[in-house]
Amino acid sequence: MAVKGFLSALYEQPDMHRLAVAQERANAYAQARRVITMEPAAVIDAVKAANLKGLGGAGFPTGMKWSFVPPKGDKPHYLVVNADEGEPGTFKDRRILLGCPHALLEGIIICCHAIRSEKAYIYVRGEYIHEMKRLQGAIDEAYAAGLLGADHLGTGRRLDVVVHPGAGAYICGEETALIESLEGKKGQPRNKPPFPAIEGLFMCPTVVNNVETLSYLPFLFEMGPQAFNDLGANGTGGCHLVSLSGHIERPGVYEVPMGFPMMELINGLGGGVWKSRRLKAVIPGGLSAPILTADEAQQARLDFKTLRDMGSMAGSGAVMVIDDETPMINVLLNCSHFYHDESCGQCTPCRDGSWWLYKICLRIARGEGRVRDLDEIVRICNNIEGNTICAFGEATAWPIRSYVRKFRGELEAFIQSGQRASEADWYHDDLAAPPLVQIAGVAGTMGAHV
Ligand SMILES: Cc1cc2nc3c(=O)[nH]c(=O)nc-3n(C[C@H](O)[C@H](O)[C@H](O)COP(=O)(O)O)c2cc1C
Repeated sequence: MAVKGFLSALYEQPDMHRLAVAQERANAYAQARRVITMEPAAVIDAVKAANLKGLGGAGFPTGMKWSFVPPKGDKPHYLVVNADEGEPGTFKDRRILLGCPHALLEGIIICCHAIRSEKAYIYVRGEYIHEMKRLQGAIDEAYAAGLLGADHLGTGRRLDVVVHPGAGAYICGEETALIESLEGKKGQPRNKPPFPAIEGLFMCPTVVNNVETLSYLPFLFEMGPQAFNDLGANGTGGCHLVSLSGHIERPGVYEVPMGFPMMELINGLGGGVWKSRRLKAVIPGGLSAPILTADEAQQARLDFKTLRDMGSMAGSGAVMVIDDETPMINVLLNCSHFYHDESCGQCTPCRDGSWWLYKICLRIARGEGRVRDLDEIVRICNNIEGNTICAFGEATAWPIRSYVRKFRGELEAFIQSGQRASEADWYHDDLAAPPLVQIAGVAGTMGAHV
């Protein structure tokens, strides 16, 4: 059973993006008013007790992240909201931005109070033009009502919220690349430590949180940390939004409790694999997640611990269904092309490794591969993993290696047959270009995309 009554209950109602409607029908900002009277440390303790985890991809405990921000100091503190939503298969944050932006703004007020911040930046995926307009409209209404701005909510303090458009680079969703991009520089990840909580935006203490993570805060405080925790399972509290796509009868965004069974999502909410076909595999947490076979999917549950224990990850909550008529070479080609195209070029193992992976996958797809290419793919993945500044390296290596390991028999048979993959012509051959060219292609802020 899908959960009703949280974020989906808001964004499924018409006009919920308007302040008057959100206040009348959903009591918007009531929790923010209450929370700003609490001690910041008590707010952080409540978020820790609720076991809210980051829903942008990494699943890091939210309260713990906030607690790393130094409580006192002479530098300003910042909140950066990650609305880049670039992980392939992920389309849930846009439902919030379009349908219930006041839930996000209320979450921002709560977070800023806890980390003592007077300024929040929302970094929005550049393609989300309508979403940005909706969000700005909600922000304008919140300023006019005194919820934001000088003496916001009668606190005697300022709180400003700024919307900043990205320019279409997947890497700018990585939190330190995002910060660089916000500062007007080329969007490339920083070495860590120092982590953003100590030196983030403009070298000041900064919390980066995903749109959905922050939007659950009003519910967390309304029901209380214990009840929020009890909604979830396996060490994570609450629910989450799942973007369900691929070969499925009813694709869409579904709100489910943590620990929801994968097959109930696919066969129940999603209406089953499309065209009465059989399930071949599932990508459970965005393209960066290692793939699950149909057998593994039977045991899978949608939470961070279960999927980690199965050797995959819950990531951004994007479930992509693959039917039994899909050749794995097409999945391999598509995935390797994406990471080759999006590598920012900063780290050699990622820049050159993703280029080699794509080159080999394209060769196989064109019917010119050799069985030993599969070992070469695994070797390249092993050399990327753990050797890059940011997790883009793992995001490349993990899924590609999982396709080869779990579907090796099929891929070997394909190579030995000498066939050409149906999708081989979809990908242009840009392999003559040296990988260094990619460095110039990293998008910074809007207008800086080369
Ligand atoms: C290559 C890459 C892309 C990412 N893209 C996004 C994104 O689009 N949106 C997002 O919220 N997090 C993204 N992340 C995760 C962020 O780095 C960060 O963990 C997250 O924004 C923290 O928020 P949370 O704790 O609320 O999840 C990405 C990470 C990597 C390595």
